[in-house]
Amino acid sequence: MDKINILRHLAIIMDGNGRWAKIRGKVRTEGHKVGAETVRDITTYCAKQETIETLTLYAFSTENWKRPKMEVNFLMRLLDNYLRNELSTYMELDTRFETIGDLSPFSNSLKQTISETKELTKNNKSLVQVLALNYGSRDEIVRAANRVIAKDQELTEESLTASLDSSYGDIDLIVRTSGEQRLSNFLLWQLSYSEIFFTDTLWPDFTASELEEIIENFQQRNRKYGGI
Ligand code: FPP
Repeated sequence: MDKINILRHLAIIMDGNGRWAKIRGKVRTEGHKVGAETVRDITTYCAKQETIETLTLYAFSTENWKRPKMEVNFLMRLLDNYLRNELSTYMELDTRFETIGDLSPFSNSLKQTISETKELTKNNKSLVQVLALNYGSRDEIVRAANRVIAKDQELTEESLTASLDSSYGDIDLIVRTSGEQRLSNFLLWQLSYSEIFFTDTLWPDFTASELEEIIENFQQRNRKYGGI
């Protein structure tokens, strides 16, 4: 049998919450609410997979601040509630919570919930769920380069990689939902050799069984890393 690819690090651009709501005549925030349930379902699936070590989810980009204040506030509250309500799920799934991105603009109470959740889950081993929050890849790369300069190191691929927010390694597979086919400033450095999969499914409708099919497709792909 041919060798299959091993999926260790999966990244997802969770897109289409607003459209999901609009189709149903609901307000956009209803889509985010159901989207949070999908986050739980997909995290649960990944935690149970032997090979998957890291799941990185794009939850809030540096551009998302441009949305109406009411929607931004809703997303902040939703995240806070999610972390509080799902603590038992993180523990049951033996899943560690981490973040990438610049947390400084978030409220003190949200920052506290984030740091408490990290602390309480820090010894969990089955999966690391990384939420990208106020995250932009160019911003991350520039901040990493500045860290290298501040440490007076030579700027190399290795020194820059070591100074990124994310120490979770290269991405094996990235999935974007909702039919959009772009990377939107997400993990540009870490995606260099990633397999990419776009699905038309809107994030609130995305399921573990669809993810399983995508992973089967990934496993059969021929990853060449520039070789032949
Ligand atoms: C994209 O849909 C989604 C977001 C910008 C936010 C992602 C948030 C969630 C999945 C829910 C909460 C997350 C957690 C971790 C609890 P969109 O609003 O851009 O959809 P559209 O393109 O159809 O308008």
